[in-house]
Amino acid sequence: MWPSRFHFVNASVIAVTVLIICAGLTAGLNNGLASTPPMGYNTWNAFHDEINETLIYHAADELVETGLAAAGYDYLVIDADGWANFQRNGSGPIEANSTRFPNGIKAVADYVHAKGLKLGIYSDSGTLTCAKYTASLGYEAIDAAQFAAWEVDLLKYDNCFSRTVRSRYEAMSDALNATGRPILFSMCEWGVSSPWEYGNQVGNTWRTTQDISLAISATWDSVMNNLEGTKGLARFGGPGGWNDADMLEVGWPGGALLSDVEQRAHFALWAILKSPLIFGNDLRNMTRQTLNILKSPEVVAINQDPLGIPGDLVWKQGPQEVYAAPLVDGSRAVVLFNRHQHLDPNFPSQNMTVFWRSIGIPPNVTVWAFLFSSSRP
Ligand SMILES: *[C@@H]1O[C@H](CO)[C@@H](O)[C@H](O)[C@H]1NC(C)=O
Ligand SMILES: *[C@@H]1O[C@H](CO)[C@@H](O)[C@H](O)[C@H]1NC(C)=O
Ligand SMILES: *[C@@H]1O[C@H](CO)[C@@H](O)[C@H](O)[C@H]1NC(C)=O
Ligand SMILES: *[C@@H]1O[C@H](CO)[C@@H](O)[C@H](O)[C@H]1NC(C)=O
Ligand SMILES: *[C@@H]1O[C@H](CO)[C@@H](O)[C@H](O)[C@H]1NC(C)=O
Ligand SMILES: *[C@@H]1O[C@H](CO)[C@@H](O)[C@H](O)[C@H]1NC(C)=O
Ligand SMILES: *[C@@H]1O[C@H](CO)[C@@H](O)[C@H](O)[C@H]1NC(C)=O
Repeated sequence: MWPSRFHFVNASVIAVTVLIICAGLTAGLNNGLASTPPMGYNTWNAFHDEINETLIYHAADELVETGLAAAGYDYLVIDADGWANFQRNGSGPIEANSTRFPNGIKAVADYVHAKGLKLGIYSDSGTLTCAKYTASLGYEAIDAAQFAAWEVDLLKYDNCFSRTVRSRYEAMSDALNATGRPILFSMCEWGVSSPWEYGNQVGNTWRTTQDISLAISATWDSVMNNLEGTKGLARFGGPGGWNDADMLEVGWPGGALLSDVEQRAHFALWAILKSPLIFGNDLRNMTRQTLNILKSPEVVAINQDPLGIPGDLVWKQGPQEVYAAPLVDGSRAVVLFNRHQHLDPNFPSQNMTVFWRSIGIPPNVTVWAFLFSSSRP
């Protein structure tokens, strides 16, 4: 896997124009957020529902101290049902567990905002959350108003104990809108209702597949499974609404589940698909290698390119795949991905060919190519 970026002169913009038309669904959500895919940190992978305010304060500090906030990772998402009480108090709003969050969510939001970051929180569209805590079905307006009063900036909305998926996500989307506070709506319904077909009317991101899994010897397969489920959907994504291939497994835990080259391939692919870049490893002990991958400025720039056209598979032969996306300056981002022998940490190199035509460049233009390789330190 060598992500590469090709600059070319004198090139026709016809291919770019065509892609814009394909991506041109009418945006209905219109909350002004996610003009590029959201980037940030999510507590789930490292902490599951063992979360508390101390952990969130530390995570905010660490995002800034590691330089990850400056690199663009500005959402800090409390992702687990454990932040809330098990049960709703009468017909009142969802409340924070006062043992775990003694100062309440508003205080946490204030702390996070003072660091220049944004706060995300979690709820569920069903009768219960996945770990059987309070969920928001029937209480969308009350809970959304509570989240807005706490000055929350993102809601990740899960799909456990749920049915009639689309209308339940629309109900929360409307409720968030009614608060008047722009809150990024992260639809986590696992791709079951083909959310890409209507997602940009309802949310800012929509998961395309089941959860990415962290399991010894299964993590890479899960990354590939989510890639398969997101391939071919590029035309549905664009500024304001993005396909979400789920969290990054880069750096977690300590590289034991994915080799270095697998982590770089995972990151480059998520970047070019314009999936949100939300990582979830333990912030307290990231390796230099993990930081290098997450901060890689060229790869992050491709994900955050203001043109906002997701890349997709453009060529495949055996284990070799080419993904490409047009960029705002008329150049192309290209990922050359070799799936062969993916479990071999030594990952033997292969030569690969990219055909200009397959990345939308007419054969008669002069091309300048700049390559950056995943083998950088
Ligand atoms: C609510 O929806 C309207 C109509 O799409 C939009 O103009 C407005 O910006 C939205 N407000 C918020 C806070 O999302
Ligand atoms: C907060 O959660 C973290 C991670 O689960 C844990 O290590 C820590 O002991 C907890 N702190 C408190 C005060 O409960
Ligand atoms: C709050 O969290 C603690 C664990 O830290 C748990 O024992 C308790 O049951 C929770 N309280 C409520 C009301 O859910
Ligand atoms: C439940 O809500 C009522 C107000 O509606 C409040 O007086 C009471 O203290 C709340 N109970 C708990 C355990 O938070
Ligand atoms: C990071 O620290 C946590 C808590 O001390 C530990 O459980 C985990 O194994 C550590 N991870 C790495 C990569 O060192
Ligand atoms: C790649 O191509 C070059 C030039 O043809 C050749 O020298 C090299 O051995 C090839 N590498 C592999 C791994 O096939
Ligand atoms: C490339 O070929 C196309 C089709 O023949 C033509 O329209 C275009 O002007 C050519 N571009 C250049 C830079 O020669």
